[in-house]
Amino acid sequence: MRLRDIRKINVRNKRVLVRVDYNVEVDSKGKIRDLTRLKATVLTILWLVRHGAKVILVSHRGRPQGRDMKYSLQPVVPALCRLLKRPVMFVANPLFDRALDAQLIVLKPGQVALLENIRFEPGEEDNSPAVAKRLASFAEIVVNDAFADSHRSHASIVGVAKYRPMYAGLLLQQEVKTLTTLLKKPKRPYVAIIGGAKISTKLHLIKRLLRQADFVLLGGALANTLLQAEGVAIGASLTEPSMLKAAVGLHSTDAKLKIPCDVVVAKKRTSGVATRTIAVGNIQPKEMVLDIGPDTIELFRRIIRTAKTIVWNGPMGVYELSPFDRGTLALARVIAKQPCLSVAGGGETVDAIRRSGVSSKFTFLSTGGGAMLEMLEGKTLPGVAVTIQR
Ligand code: 3PG
Repeated sequence: MRLRDIRKINVRNKRVLVRVDYNVEVDSKGKIRDLTRLKATVLTILWLVRHGAKVILVSHRGRPQGRDMKYSLQPVVPALCRLLKRPVMFVANPLFDRALDAQLIVLKPGQVALLENIRFEPGEEDNSPAVAKRLASFAEIVVNDAFADSHRSHASIVGVAKYRPMYAGLLLQQEVKTLTTLLKKPKRPYVAIIGGAKISTKLHLIKRLLRQADFVLLGGALANTLLQAEGVAIGASLTEPSMLKAAVGLHSTDAKLKIPCDVVVAKKRTSGVATRTIAVGNIQPKEMVLDIGPDTIELFRRIIRTAKTIVWNGPMGVYELSPFDRGTLALARVIAKQPCLSVAGGGETVDAIRRSGVSSKFTFLSTGGGAMLEMLEGKTLPGVAVTIQR
């Protein structure tokens, strides 16, 4: 799959609309909690700036119902200015406000503007031609650098490509290249680690990985559903009863699939609560599984140490709450030491890796959550498809 590379064309003096993903959390003081998604777009923006383009950034933030200022992109501006080491003009006007054209027309080569949250526009998520056409009217060239949103067929991701040539930004190219390596030619042994809460969002991926990878290691609450499907009592643990039928047989039929043999349980999901580390058969009715146990960590460690390729999505337990972070942090450190291609993605997983202090040891941290999962399922993401060279 060859993508149209933005670096292959002349952008001097051209207005270039770049779809980025600044779907970030902002704390009560207006500070961005994690700058990863902003940092990830710097390469593309600076390349455009250095080559004399007039850059217009478009992003969504959150899932607003209408024009809800809680989801404004304004708080992103100071951090973006610092990262780019240049001013960023924020354009707060609604998309169809005529004053917006006047604001964008004054942009000079090398200048950068950021539009307000595109999901404030009713037609964005419905891929309305009116929104797509209006966005396209601002620029001569459009770029998709929002890998994390490329599984969405929205106006600013795919609709706009009907009206202007769509190119792939540097982040999009890097994400697609790395994940394609996992799909097409992973060096073996290939070990996949899948955790997180919901098996419903990951069952297709797990099934595909069972065909493709050499080992699939499962942890987190999604493993509870599998244990329950096998008849193991899981007490008051988080589970997805609607998925029990689909999960039946998944474990026992495949030797590649490894699920926890021991777990850390507690009666409350809070720090400082009494915990027990027990074999999975011994969970009491009021207890909740909140982490994988030491024997499971050891089992997973031994498998990870054989790996030439690793992909990881989803924590092994309640990683944001000590002591239930042990399993997740231990795996992060084991993977970090393994000389192999190591790719991790999903907001929580990347956050946990950062907390463990080993993020620089991973080959690649994907900015995608749902987008990464869908790509690993073998789907061609609509936002990637519009940048494919034909
Ligand atoms: C993400 O955070 O995964 C992307 O920004 C997509 O957000 P969405 O799930 O609200 O479309």
